[in-house]
Amino acid sequence: MSHFSYQNGVLNAESVPLSQIAAQFGTPTYVYSKAALLENFHAYADACRGRDALVCYAMKANSNLAVLDLLVREGAGFDIVSGGELLRALAAGADPGKVIFSGVGKTVEEMKLALDKGILCFNVESIPELHRLNDVAGQMGKRAKVSLRVNPDVDAKTHPYISTGLKANKFGVAFSDALDTYRAAARLPHLEVAGIDCHIGSQLLDDAPLLEALDKLIDLIDTLAAEGIHLHHLDIGGGIGVNYGAAGDEPPVPVGEYIGRVFQRIDAWRAAKYDGKPIKVIFEPGRSIVANAGALLMSIEFLKPGEEKNFCVVDAAMNDMMRPTLYEAWMAVQPVTPREGKALCYDLVGPICESGDWLARGRELAVQPGDLLAMMTAGAYGMSMASNYNTRGRAAEVIVDGDKVHLVRRREKPEELYALETIIR
Ligand code: LLP
Repeated sequence: MSHFSYQNGVLNAESVPLSQIAAQFGTPTYVYSKAALLENFHAYADACRGRDALVCYAMKANSNLAVLDLLVREGAGFDIVSGGELLRALAAGADPGKVIFSGVGKTVEEMKLALDKGILCFNVESIPELHRLNDVAGQMGKRAKVSLRVNPDVDAKTHPYISTGLKANKFGVAFSDALDTYRAAARLPHLEVAGIDCHIGSQLLDDAPLLEALDKLIDLIDTLAAEGIHLHHLDIGGGIGVNYGAAGDEPPVPVGEYIGRVFQRIDAWRAAKYDGKPIKVIFEPGRSIVANAGALLMSIEFLKPGEEKNFCVVDAAMNDMMRPTLYEAWMAVQPVTPREGKALCYDLVGPICESGDWLARGRELAVQPGDLLAMMTAGAYGMSMASNYNTRGRAAEVIVDGDKVHLVRRREKPEELYALETIIR
């Protein structure tokens, strides 16, 4: 169910009118629904109940401390991709024993930090990374738990920028090299080979490619076991995609169904080969936890009719929400207070000095300057990808809980944007 709905002619987040939020906090502002966030997390957590499983929220999707804190309190683990994300997760109270570290370019400093904090596992992506981690762990007198990110060469059939499991991608160890890489890892004294992982891409609406990847991981686990390399966990990567609401879009497979199918396959395999002995299963969903829990609230500055196109100039821009211009992603835009009158076809653009600064194209809207608009399904990869381009302070963020609104990140002030800079004389 959507936690954004029209009540008395005004779009609400839970039971707070977005117009009230705009009046109180200004625009652009990211608005998140706590109920939606928890519901989305529980779609995963509940489907894993009673299992040896861990849901590690991929915090790159939205790393606001308040979001992380809500998830910590529900028992979430975290998938991180930098030392900064680790410190953020810990600042929100995350249990380091539930943190996994993904990414192709972990620095020595990041490895040290993660080892010092005692994270659950490093998802290692190359042989040089194995050696670096072995050296760092050795210097610290520790053994690092590792999982190899195997590239199963499965076509996720998603946008090329967010497809990661093909041979041509920079990610992971090629499937054909995996066995040798595991052998190499098993020989390194300061590493403990703990698991296997993959991540084939994001915004997958169908789970067939994920299950195909799972089958490949299962085969590999059997091959490794035959060599005496026994893995304790299997991490199948990111979550299911979300419905952005574009015409003709297929609905995503329900999360519970997908997870049910994963466990069905795993149970059948363990029953046949390992006397039913379980293996820990890790999921790393990001988008599906936060996307539909968030909207980007903005105001219309000007309407600019043109010969070829009508432009609706808003106060949000590509620096606030990169997805449209970066991936040509279609994001729904709704008036906060729909008005009667003739709709015109608009391109929604921001004030940034680039033609690429657009948020939506060809939308039928009956609007006037000063009206509020909400970009829907904006909770994932929105604020976390925002920048300060054009010296624009990043948007405020609020979380709505029933009839209460909490400011969880205030708007940045311009002077804060150059506070770290110094003039040379
Ligand atoms: N695990 C790893 C190793 C990942 O690289 C990602 C996402 C995830 C998990 C989470 O995947 P999800 O559940 O969110 O699909 N900025 C792009 C998406 C980039 C995804 C990067 N990796 C977008 O806005 O569409």
